Amino acid sequence: MSANRPAAVVVLAAGEGTRMKSKTPKVLHEIAGRSLVGHVVSAARELEPEQLVVVVGHASEQVEEHLAAHYAGTRTAFQAEQNGTGHAVRMGLEELGQTWGSPQAEGSGGGTVVVVCGDTPLLSGETLTALTATHTADGNAVTVLTAEVPDSTGYGRIVRDAATGAVTAIVEHKDATEAERAIREINSGVFAFDGQLLADALAKVRTDNSQGEEYLTDVLGILREAGHRVGASVTADHREILGINNRVQLAEARRLLNERLLERAMTAGVTVVDPASVVVDVMVTFERDAVIHPGTQLLGATHVAEDAEVGPNTRLRDTVVGRGARVDNTVADGAVIGEAASVGPFAYLRPGTKLGAKAKAGTYVEMKNATIGEGTKVPHLSYVGDATIGEYTNIGAASVFVNYDGEAKHHTTIGSHCKTGSDNMFVAPVTVGDGAYTAAGSVITKDVPPGSLAVARGQQRNIEGWVARKRPGSAAAQAAAEAVRQFNDGS
Ligand code: UD1
Ligand code: CA
Repeated sequence: MSANRPAAVVVLAAGEGTRMKSKTPKVLHEIAGRSLVGHVVSAARELEPEQLVVVVGHASEQVEEHLAAHYAGTRTAFQAEQNGTGHAVRMGLEELGQTWGSPQAEGSGGGTVVVVCGDTPLLSGETLTALTATHTADGNAVTVLTAEVPDSTGYGRIVRDAATGAVTAIVEHKDATEAERAIREINSGVFAFDGQLLADALAKVRTDNSQGEEYLTDVLGILREAGHRVGASVTADHREILGINNRVQLAEARRLLNERLLERAMTAGVTVVDPASVVVDVMVTFERDAVIHPGTQLLGATHVAEDAEVGPNTRLRDTVVGRGARVDNTVADGAVIGEAASVGPFAYLRPGTKLGAKAKAGTYVEMKNATIGEGTKVPHLSYVGDATIGEYTNIGAASVFVNYDGEAKHHTTIGSHCKTGSDNMFVAPVTVGDGAYTAAGSVITKDVPPGSLAVARGQQRNIEGWVARKRPGSAAAQAAAEAVRQFNDGS
């Protein structure tokens, strides 16, 4: 591995991506929770290059900001005008020039340089590693990663010598003859170069083509004519080098990556009942025997532990699901769900929710910034915001933690082994002590000492005979009279 460690990787990301028809630069579009350029940088980092530079141009400030935020330490080179992929690589090498490593043996200046495009998000680190290994083993001046594709429209075609099969040139779609357009082997846009030979050849690239650009692909012909070894490495799976130029390809790449991520999970022992309806981000992790039901989206840094069951119809972002927990028809963001806890159906857990082991957030329950102790249940129709609840407490149906006074948020604390009545309002800040009870329909505005019963509601008053007097002859009055008659007959 370290023997093939490249001196540098150059990522091309200066283009606008006109065909995306977007105000967002192409390489910042996302699939599976990561930008297109982020996928490429992540794969490139697996090569452990001495240097990595991203060539930026269109919306460069936005792209640089994104790289600084998510891929700290990534260097960028600026390509003011998008004069072609060859020109872009030149800008990248110029940026690296200041710190370019000392020339290595055989007079080659600084070892292998890998070039990748910022719009090929499915490219894996393994494929890049295999490419650099082939490049080094064969002693090539350049090795291009190619693939046989069903439809080669738009791609550069790989032209081979009819007799020897050696690669002679890459011809861009727009410059290709009818015969060349029939070629199905295409340029992935990924190359391994001898750094010094690349720099020399780039100086000779011309712009006399249909697009008036400096094509990186012309370097192959230049090196070959100068008598250097030009090699090609054909990918086993052509889908890996899918280049994103429009939103149809963006969606296709997302689907393929999703399949790859779910296959990896299933191979590691996760049951995915219906992979076609499950969406997963690259950072999501699983333990074995987790079960994912249909219609589930697992996003961000979500983790699903052993024996946990998630879904159906659930969206979890940056949420940890503990061992054996059950999460059904739920939306959660930034929540921690304890071991064997139960969530939903139809729950909404917002950031800062921490459910202890065996705790429950049931049907139509919303929680936010709330710590719920082991075995505590909030089973029905409640809002729990800015609260701490102890262990083995039961919160009655239709309770609201009244946390907002119109200006500030306040905290409610409820102890362990409490039983609070249905339809309670806990007007924060307020504290209910351990083992306390509250009566149904109470508005709790004062602290409740441990072990007390708090009753905070109007007294009931029955006005007898009201219906007969005020609603004479009505169905209610007749039913009441009948009930009185039956009671009298029975006694
Ligand atoms: C390029 C290749 C083509 C290959 C295809 C694979 C060339 C001339 N063509 O074509 O052979 O089959 O990729 O997907 O190399 N970029 C810059 N600066 C520029 C121009 C492009 O940074 O001046 C970047 C773009 O942002 C993009 C990448 O280079 O990430 C490829 O550019 P794009 O315009 O998409 O090239 P293709 O026409 O797809
Ligand atoms: Ca492209």
